[in-house]
Amino acid sequence: MFASGGGPDAPHRPVLLAQSVGYLAPERGGLFVDATLGLGGHSKALLEASPLVRVLGIDRDREALQFATARLTGFHQRFRAVHANFNEIARALEEAGKAKPNKVSGVLADLGVSSLQFDTAERGFSFRQDAPLDMRMNAGSEEETAAELLARLPEEEIARIIFEYGEERKSRRIARWIVERREAGRAIETTVELAALVARAVGYKRTDRIHPATRTFQALRIAVNHELEGLEAFLEASVDLLQPSGRLVVISFHSLEDRIVKRALRRLAGQCECDPRLPVCACGARRAVEILTRRPVTPTEAEMNENPRARSAKLRACRKLEDVAVATAT
Ligand SMILES: C[S@@+](CC[C@H](N)C(=O)[O-])C[C@H]1O[C@@H](n2cnc3c(N)ncnc32)[C@H](O)[C@@H]1O
Repeated sequence: MFASGGGPDAPHRPVLLAQSVGYLAPERGGLFVDATLGLGGHSKALLEASPLVRVLGIDRDREALQFATARLTGFHQRFRAVHANFNEIARALEEAGKAKPNKVSGVLADLGVSSLQFDTAERGFSFRQDAPLDMRMNAGSEEETAAELLARLPEEEIARIIFEYGEERKSRRIARWIVERREAGRAIETTVELAALVARAVGYKRTDRIHPATRTFQALRIAVNHELEGLEAFLEASVDLLQPSGRLVVISFHSLEDRIVKRALRRLAGQCECDPRLPVCACGARRAVEILTRRPVTPTEAEMNENPRARSAKLRACRKLEDVAVATAT
């Protein structure tokens, strides 16, 4: 069997739940923003941690908002959901009538795709069932689907996406096959068509642990949803919204994502990355937070065994400082 993010029957298990709640420290109550509401697993734990906790849940997936809102109905007076991209966190707070900089006690982002998205065949995230190759988290929006991307992009760009976001060594070969098929008038339209093409292009053995198309699907999903763009701006905006001592917790599942988070937190902690010969800092470093996780927190063996999706998770957290100064190159 191929490893997967948990089958359709697998119950949803929020990743690194105890650790996230621990770093967010909700015991004293306050306003928390769950910037990636998903199925509401982390939000529920925050709401249960104290009757003084209020949560604003953000998701760009309307289905997730509906699902989580129904699930958290018992907390309706303390929970509010807003449809938005998390890089619009300030606008989402404003829309919810909670727009006051320096008033948020904690922000959580559990990045990537939810099991609801992955397990709903028609969303086109998975090749376990045949469906249109869509992959948009914001389904029904004007954004391009994965099939439209593959029908439009030049071969070089398709190869770059598969190589960079999927870390797929045979990215050029896969891109060539996709474009050859397109030029023959048979552009890829469904999940199974793409999975079968990738499997033939790279070749695979029955004993392979993961399906050879897994990396290509991950890469396309990241590209379709612009998952790496806006992440840094979101982290900066979140820190601005936090009250002194407020916490920011981010869980990532991809090395590129984790690198963005690590570097952004370092800059926010005032660690300048500029050439020391520069007279002034140009990287934007400012002393706004204290990093709480010297190394990323990863799941225990037990969590990884129970929830295969957790395997690549990395959690980083920081705390906003009382006094915020602008850093200069040293
Ligand atoms: C891993 S799931 C979150 C699961 C959630 N923590 C739980 O316990 O149920 C990630 C969610 O974030 C949403 N998402 C991803 N990127 C987003 C973005 N830029 N803006 C808003 N929502 C986003 C996805 O639609 C998905 O529902």
